[in-house]
Amino acid sequence: MPILVTGATGTVGGSLVRQLVSTGHDVRALTRDPASPAATALPDRVEVVAGDFARPHTLVAALRGVTRMHLVAMDGYGPLTTGAEILELARQAGVRRVTHLGHNDPSRADDDPIEAPHRPLHRAVENSGLEWTHIFPGEFMANTREWAAGIRTEGVVRAPFGDWNSALVHEADIAAVIVAALTEDGHAGRVYQPTGPEPVRRRDAVRMIGEAIGRPVRFDELTPEQAREYWKDHYPTEVIEWFLEMGRHPDGSGWVAPDVEQVTGRPGRTFRQWAAEHADDFR
Ligand SMILES: NC(=O)c1ccc[n+]([C@@H]2O[C@H](COP(=O)([O-])OP(=O)(O)OC[C@H]3O[C@@H](n4cnc5c(N)ncnc54)[C@H](OP(=O)(O)O)[C@@H]3O)[C@@H](O)[C@H]2O)c1
Repeated sequence: MPILVTGATGTVGGSLVRQLVSTGHDVRALTRDPASPAATALPDRVEVVAGDFARPHTLVAALRGVTRMHLVAMDGYGPLTTGAEILELARQAGVRRVTHLGHNDPSRADDDPIEAPHRPLHRAVENSGLEWTHIFPGEFMANTREWAAGIRTEGVVRAPFGDWNSALVHEADIAAVIVAALTEDGHAGRVYQPTGPEPVRRRDAVRMIGEAIGRPVRFDELTPEQAREYWKDHYPTEVIEWFLEMGRHPDGSGWVAPDVEQVTGRPGRTFRQWAAEHADDFR
């Protein structure tokens, strides 16, 4: 029976698909556009199906014959609002196990304006009647790809908070935790928070990318005001304010969780390794 992977064309989902295929599992990949370059680049053995979370009934065909699925909580930058409906369709189709990749900052209250919109989905997963596992990672190493254009064209990264210290996590480690939760017993009702193995300051991440591509990259630190202006065409206002609010606490994300090593049996990959693997994105 295939494992249904939603978000299969994304950063974590792509790694998840490759890891499942390489360990002999049949994978069905959901995408809104099976003809997109990201979908056509999926491994040959993967069955690609169309479906859109915004219209849950479009997932009915994708769910047929599936007992395990991975749900990415994507709806633009906001939380997935159709999660309860999708999970009910999944239950009716015979799905028994779900991994849920989403957002949660345990240090913030349930009524925090950034956190509150995500909570209904968390509850929907927990009340779905399925064996569930929440995956709430730290900041992705892959987020640094937003610097790629500036590095390629000018050799510069412009961002606020150079001392922001974050245990950036490799997408393959998040995916490895999800593989374990989907394919092994013993993960039901667990909440995993994959992080990287060490905190990395933003200015050090820039330096390591420079080392990976073999030429120095300058870090121009923006003030919060400059960052607002710089990001205004790329992110919604509330997302910018969230980034800035996080950045005001320099050690806010430096916390290293043991989950990757505990679940997968090996330490998380470092940012240096990620930068070497992804150097071509910045060249
Ligand atoms: N970035 C971070 O630092 C961070 C930290 C903690 C948690 N997270 C969580 O990680 C998740 C994002 O993972 P990611 O970065 O791997 O994703 P991503 O690379 O941004 O890719 C998004 C995926 O979601 C799919 N998707 C988007 N809207 C959809 C819709 N309406 N219907 C069906 N599929 C849809 C896309 O598929 P198609 O385009 O092919 O349809 C794509 O595969 C989010 O839940 C986020 O909260 C991220």
